[in-house]
Amino acid sequence: MVDILLQRRIVIAITGGIAAYKCAELVRRLKDRGAEVRVVMTASACEFITPLTMQALSGEPVHTHLLDPRAEQGMGHIELARWAELVLVVPATAHTMARLAHGWADDLLGSLWLATTAIRAVAPAMNQQMWKAPAVQRNYANLLQDGVRVWGPTEGQQACGDVGPGRMMEPMDLVEQVAAHFQPKDMHGLHVLLTAGPTQEKLDPVRYLSNYSSGLMGYCVAKAFQERGAHVTLVSGPVSLPPPQGVTMVSVVSAAEMLEATLSRLNGIDVFVGSAAVADYRPRELAQHKIKKTEAELTLKLEKTEDILARVAEQPNKPFVVGFAAETQHVHAYALDKMKRKKLDMIACNDVSQPGIGFAAQHNAMHIFWKNGDCALPKAPKMDIARQLVGLIMKQWKGPSA
Ligand code: C5P
Repeated sequence: MVDILLQRRIVIAITGGIAAYKCAELVRRLKDRGAEVRVVMTASACEFITPLTMQALSGEPVHTHLLDPRAEQGMGHIELARWAELVLVVPATAHTMARLAHGWADDLLGSLWLATTAIRAVAPAMNQQMWKAPAVQRNYANLLQDGVRVWGPTEGQQACGDVGPGRMMEPMDLVEQVAAHFQPKDMHGLHVLLTAGPTQEKLDPVRYLSNYSSGLMGYCVAKAFQERGAHVTLVSGPVSLPPPQGVTMVSVVSAAEMLEATLSRLNGIDVFVGSAAVADYRPRELAQHKIKKTEAELTLKLEKTEDILARVAEQPNKPFVVGFAAETQHVHAYALDKMKRKKLDMIACNDVSQPGIGFAAQHNAMHIFWKNGDCALPKAPKMDIARQLVGLIMKQWKGPSA
């Protein structure tokens, strides 16, 4: 599959924040994905990281001055403005956000910002108290209103020792944001419902039965649909992932809650993806009080939960139904049997006994089956696998024109 970032023309505009050093990694990763990168640096950015480093990594001369004798007619900002498909300001300091929000054009970045018709994005990075300051929040709101994409900031430990919102988004996450931005927006009007994550089945007031699912694969599939313009609802079991932006979240705990949340939202859904690792059994009885360890052996009585995927697939106006099959042996045979038994349109199966893929891993590898065909997706980051899966779902559902 051709990388969506191949030959994309991206200006990385670096400003004077301590996180500027992370731009070296960002440029490197964008180049790895085949993007063409040109770097602009403000005067204070050059105090934090040298233009020479950025030149070596981007393979292009770095632009630092408004009047550029190398550029035709000396107007480097106009040439860059016309060349770029995306201008990303990173790290966007409080000062830079103020300048951009007010349209100051007293340096190369300010002028380029006004002169370009490319998509403009900023990745804020500053002390958490500065981020919360009313003036910064006003500038942030103004930038959003001007159509600027604001990626981050994230929460966590800061270089100054504070903890809170204001950290620059990590370079790999920014690369993902850039890739998401370039996805075709061809799914407007499509309604997608997904389940993701594990379920927890209560045993007593302090214990539950569950599994190792991190929910990451389902969250990536939700994001892959959302970034192509679909309207996405994600019914999620308990996970520690941030909700994907632009996705309607429904949080549930047990299999019974997940079933109810799913069935009550099926109306008008075009595609259903059941990626949750739903508990197959739940305790038959919920102990009122904590079970004491008085016995040498304890026998639990379990009862079957309802199969959410099969229930969706038996609805009269059922959507296109995609199931998952995580197996440790006979992976393909079990998956094909599951597809037939549960009346699915497609099944994505993987071998969770393989190290480094599947449950709780950042990567996955899958084999996808549908009525008259199949396709192997070799090991890749889960977001890449998700985008390929979404492409296959659209092809099978809509036909080769999709
Ligand atoms: O039968 P098995 O649990 O292996 O099937 C896995 C597929 O079925 C996944 O897509 C999972 O989300 C779905 N499933 C479900 N409800 C259950 C059990 C599994 O939706 N109770």
